This record gives sequence, C-alpha cells and structure tokens, in this order.
Amino acid sequence: MTVRPLIAGNWKMNGLATESSAELKALIAKLQAADTGACDVLICPPATLVFQMAELAKGSNLNIGGQDCHAAEKGAHTGDTSAAMLKDAGATYAIVGHSERRTDHAETNEIVKAKAEAAIAAGLIAIVCVGETLEQRESGETLSVITDQVKNSLPAGATAQNTVIAYEPVWAIGTGKTPTPADVAEVHAHMRGDLNGLMQDADGVRLLYGGSVKGSNAAELMALDNVDGALVGGASLKAEDFWPIVETGLA
Ligand code: 13P
Repeated sequence: MTVRPLIAGNWKMNGLATESSAELKALIAKLQAADTGACDVLICPPATLVFQMAELAKGSNLNIGGQDCHAAEKGAHTGDTSAAMLKDAGATYAIVGHSERRTDHAETNEIVKAKAEAAIAAGLIAIVCVGETLEQRESGETLSVITDQVKNSLPAGATAQNTVIAYEPVWAIGTGKTPTPADVAEVHAHMRGDLNGLMQDADGVRLLYGGSVKGSNAAELMALDNVDGALVGGASLKAEDFWPIVETGLA
C-alpha cells in the first residue's frame, strides 16, 4: 500500500440502538488495545444512529460517517439528510454513489458528484463509489464504465485529503463472489491512471475495494498494488467479523 489505508464499514439499513452500541463499543475496545496509528478506521451506521455512534466513538480512533447525503445544504427535501447535518451529528465521512443508491434511487454520476461536493463543502471526506454490473463485466465494458463513473462522479476540487474512491463491483456486493486479485488490481491501476489525468495528488487518493470482503480474503486484497483499504458491508456488522479486516490495514 502506498498511502495510509482506510478500513470502512457500511452498516447499510441495519442496526438498532442497543445492539449497535454494543458492537461499536466492542470495536472501540479492540482499537484501543491495538496500535492503530497506521490506519484509519470508519463505521457508517444508518442515519438514525450517526449521532449516538459518534458520541460513543468520541476520544477513540474510530471515525463515524454517513451512508449518503443530499446535494443541497438544506431545504424542502423530506426524508433526506444534508452533509452539514451529518457533520453536526459527529460524522467525518460520507459515502456517496453506492450502487444501491444508484440503483434504488436512480442516482446518476451528476447527482453523485453534487453530493460529493456537498459533503466536502460541509467538511466531510467523500467516499465516492463506482462499480460495474455483471452484464457490463461480461461484455468487456468494465474499464470504460469505471472511467465514466470516476470522471463524472469526481467532485470539483477533489484532493487526496477530501476524496476517497471505492471500487465495488455490483455483482460482488453481498453475494460472496469477488473478482480475482488480478481483476481488482487491473481496475485499481486503471482508476489511478484516470485520477492522474484529473487531479494533482492522485497518487495519494485512497482507493478502496468493496464487495464480499471478509476476514478470510481481506489480506490478499489489501496486499494488491493500488488497494488502499476496504469498504465492507455484511462483515462490518459484528466487531468480531470486522476486526480481522481492520487488522489487515494495521499490518
Ligand atoms: P458486502 O461486504 O456485504 O458485500 O457489501 C459491500 C458493500 O456494498 C459495502 O459498501
């Protein structure tokens, strides 16, 4: 790994206060017992729990983030959460453009870009997600799809400090399937190349891999060139499942 890794958990629409607090406390205890100086660790709980989890994480090395934010600062957008609200609740990161949002909420690259810009304007680090569908992979379009998404979802003013890119092949999310290490390395090298044409400090941007990351495959994936961390769904819900993945970032 060339840059400071980020191991991030995305709890998606999972978690009620009591159980989630217990898991978060268990994770914080593990972080406090380890030397985490070499790695950033993040949990993105559902919006209802951001404040509570951020309060629990205060004073620890654990970061808390949102899973999405609205592009507008405030206003008549029933049910949405602004980046400033996430920040106010204690978040330091926001995921934008997750494939579940691109699919379930018809989010285009243009929308994702605007959300990422809103996150950065509020002082959050934007984690911009990209990834091809199985159909696109099978028809040989992976790299062109990734280029299109990276180029058109990248926030204006992106820097290595305010932007992270997560490569999450849609077909690998929640399926137990992962691309081969060679395929992951190919896409990540390609993304680095794309970013080099788009920004100054592209070499410092964290490129995360996401999609069925588990304790058993994390080390192999994290060892790949241009893989600077992981974005973990199912295996981030329990501290004992997430911890071995975090350890790959500490190694
Ligand atoms: P899984 O780790 O459950 O496959 O989810 C990946 C993901 O979508 C993280 O954002």
